[in-house]
Amino acid sequence: MRTPLVAGNWKMHKTPSEARVWFNEFLDELGPVPSEAEIAILPSFPLLPLAAEELAGSGVAFGAQDVSAHDWGAFTGEVSAYQVADLGAKYAIVGHSERRKYWREDSALVAEKAKRALEAGLVPILCVGEELEVRERGEAIPFVVNQLLDSLAGVEPGDPARLVIAYEPVWAIGTGKTATPGDAEVMAEAIRSALATRYGEGFAEGVRVLYGGSIKPENFAQILAGPNVDGGLVGGASLEVASFVALSRLAVGL
Ligand code: 13P
Repeated sequence: MRTPLVAGNWKMHKTPSEARVWFNEFLDELGPVPSEAEIAILPSFPLLPLAAEELAGSGVAFGAQDVSAHDWGAFTGEVSAYQVADLGAKYAIVGHSERRKYWREDSALVAEKAKRALEAGLVPILCVGEELEVRERGEAIPFVVNQLLDSLAGVEPGDPARLVIAYEPVWAIGTGKTATPGDAEVMAEAIRSALATRYGEGFAEGVRVLYGGSIKPENFAQILAGPNVDGGLVGGASLEVASFVALSRLAVGL
């Protein structure tokens, strides 16, 4: 069975000293991390060594918000998946809608990033999601399925535990609007069936499909109730210890 995952994407927030306080308070408030769910924090690059130090032995995983499409070389400002993996990170987000939008990352580039992440031993959390006008035209499912398949071109994780897909409708990110639990489930199911076509039924059954977009403690339980929804990628509500503890508890059914 798939282990639920709740992952906090901190985006470009927190100084190292703020992050240290957050890690300590979070681990104190959460208590022992149960084995029925996985919790991960995805802070910005300068905070990763601190995450490695503060989360060591806690059972809480960490990862990066992006990695370079290149492995090594003269690429000023880029960060290699191998550098991230060497710190003990488990995950790397690739294809977040903010990168697709503000840095014009297309799905071909996202696929290269996913490949570098896998080669370095990281699990890519590959994000897909439609803009509002696509949903209003009734084209959300084919759009997301195409974006997913393009972003997986040449990507061979081998083991379904080595791939996570996050469905994040762009219009729900940071807006306070969430997809209905029904819409999240319908999309997660469409994603799983596209994965089945691409990699086979058995593989698709093992891949975790997350929902992301204005998740809060008040709406997470309904979203998680969908049988194809295996957790959440959380932005704003991961910045506060209390709300991320609450979300972590919901994910593990405490
Ligand atoms: P919010 O939870 O702030 O809407 O952000 C979602 C997101 O983009 C997570 O990657």
